[in-house]
Amino acid sequence: MRSKEYWEQRAGAYRDTMATPYHRNRLRMVEALLAGARLDGAAVDFGCGDGIMSERILDLGGSVIAIDIDRSMVHATQERLSRFGGGWQVLQGTETALAPIATASQDLVLALNVLAYMGAEEGERFYAETSRILKPGGHLVVTHSNELFDMFTLNKKTVEFYRNNFSDFVDNGEVSALLTHPDKPDRASFPTRENPLAYGARLKRFSLFEERQEFAILHPRPPLLMPGFNPDDLAAREMEDTIGWAEDVRWKLMFMCSVFGARFVKG
Ligand SMILES: C[S@@+](CC[C@H](N)C(=O)[O-])C[C@H]1O[C@@H](n2cnc3c(N)ncnc32)[C@H](O)[C@@H]1O
Repeated sequence: MRSKEYWEQRAGAYRDTMATPYHRNRLRMVEALLAGARLDGAAVDFGCGDGIMSERILDLGGSVIAIDIDRSMVHATQERLSRFGGGWQVLQGTETALAPIATASQDLVLALNVLAYMGAEEGERFYAETSRILKPGGHLVVTHSNELFDMFTLNKKTVEFYRNNFSDFVDNGEVSALLTHPDKPDRASFPTRENPLAYGARLKRFSLFEERQEFAILHPRPPLLMPGFNPDDLAAREMEDTIGWAEDVRWKLMFMCSVFGARFVKG
């Protein structure tokens, strides 16, 4: 299903979950990444959802252009921002809506949990446009589904990880044979997941240089070993805070967290 139709069906249910531990946890990670960015300047909130981060930027004295593909998300954001006199606009659109924004005019671009729903070509256009509209020294803050988490899940995703990344060395059937649940979970996945070990290198050609990574949505055990785990229930449980983890154990987060975020600076 295309991103637009998917969000037409899911937008209301998504907004209803915004107060859950899942969202508190990932937004805490976003705040940690934002600590190094300018928040009282000009910002774009791409894939703005219900406008929670656009509102935060306006509260801090910045201005914002919020963009979302889904009409009901656009309305929700407009409603949320209506208490501010000015300094904001909300557009319905995709990465092509970035085209009218002036070159080197923005201090910050946010793309939080949205690039997962875009294909490779759309993603390329998004990065190229982001690089163009950011001022030198401006920041991109982005969050993703963590592809390395697939190594920890010991399920269908692990088999896919081997096939996608190590296929020259390991036969796919051999990996499945080692796992007790190689066919689970059987749920829709989105076109784009990112590997935090490779992501920074990939964005260098857009003159976007990674400054910091953080991880959220920690799974203490692989999901299939967690009693009663339901991957579709975002409200299911409290999430451990991962921002303060000690330096020598932080590497584990790279595998045990299903979401990661990164802050890039425009060179
Ligand atoms: C998971 S929500 C995240 C919302 C918000 N950024 C947040 O962090 O709460 C994903 C949002 O991206 C929007 N979206 C999906 N594909 C898009 C696209 N190609 N262009 C712009 N927005 C898109 C959806 O309508 C939805 O509001």
